[in-house]
Amino acid sequence: MTDPQSIERARAGFLDELGRAVSDADLRAVRDKYLGRKSGLITALLRAVATAPSDERPRLGRLANELKQDIEATLAKRREALESAGPQVEPVDVSLPGREPAIGRRHPLTMMRERIESIFLRMGYEVVEGPELEDDYHNFEALNMPPDHPARDMQDTLYLAQPIVSSGHPVTLLRTHTSGMQIRYMEAHPPPVRIIAPGRVYRRDNLDLTHTPMFTQVEGLVVGEDVTLADLKGTLAAFARELFGPQTAVRFRPSFFPYTEPSAELDITCTNCGGSGCPVCKRSGWLEVLGSGMVHPAVLEAVGYDSERYTGFAFGVGVERMAMLKYGVDDIRLFYESDLRFLEQFPL
Ligand code: DAH
Repeated sequence: MTDPQSIERARAGFLDELGRAVSDADLRAVRDKYLGRKSGLITALLRAVATAPSDERPRLGRLANELKQDIEATLAKRREALESAGPQVEPVDVSLPGREPAIGRRHPLTMMRERIESIFLRMGYEVVEGPELEDDYHNFEALNMPPDHPARDMQDTLYLAQPIVSSGHPVTLLRTHTSGMQIRYMEAHPPPVRIIAPGRVYRRDNLDLTHTPMFTQVEGLVVGEDVTLADLKGTLAAFARELFGPQTAVRFRPSFFPYTEPSAELDITCTNCGGSGCPVCKRSGWLEVLGSGMVHPAVLEAVGYDSERYTGFAFGVGVERMAMLKYGVDDIRLFYESDLRFLEQFPL
């Protein structure tokens, strides 16, 4: 059953809902609710007209049809208006504080390692890498450290609970330095050699301001005919000036490593006071930065190089130490604590 009042109520309902429609989707929902083929309100009204008494049918039919046409026309007009208004934009709260995206960055040790690498790459060196699990032969013996050498002490070296035995020497330890890469590279390549070998190394040290059981080194090795101590000195002086600035002075101090003869430690003018003396350099004006020397003939012979014909120099740089000096960091542990407040202080 239907009557003129319910037709007018339907019109009022439609106008009310249309008034609240703001988007294209809203308009579609209103359209479906009133004109939907199956369950639209107007569709139902028109169907109900058929059941009205025959004398009322023409008038009710006209009213219902008029309403249907009005609704169609009104909806079409609204849709047109919506389209000409262009794409709809969510209202923007311009007072809302911005959200800063978290920008990733490289770790300061990665940056320092890459910086060291790039200095030597520009001098024509090749970058090579090798295993952190190492055998006694490459870590010690071939480097002129015989079985009774104190550096092999349990106090210093981290040994595996179970040796790994496949081909070659049984793998028994975590490398204590990158110097074993000198041997590995020379075993596989004839002279001349000009390489650096960056990587992690391990020692049986307790954590303190300057020690971590794992740290990073860059090994360097140059072998050829007529390679002299002057080449070593010139190379490392150039390296120090590249890394710490042109005003940096260097000095060599006699030292001892079993795999070099002579051996020298390189000092640079204190990065904190410039050489006048301060607590960082213990008032000496100098900082110790790396170990180096002329490759011991026994090392060359161990890899089958003719030590009468070839000479070489080698050096080992601590990456953490370089980063501490360069950036003025006084606690090595900070590099391994993943504290963003620390890590974010380094230039990108
Ligand atoms: N292997 C030494 C260390 O871990 C560093 C070093 C010293 C490397 C002298 C060398 C070298 O190649 O010639 O402290």
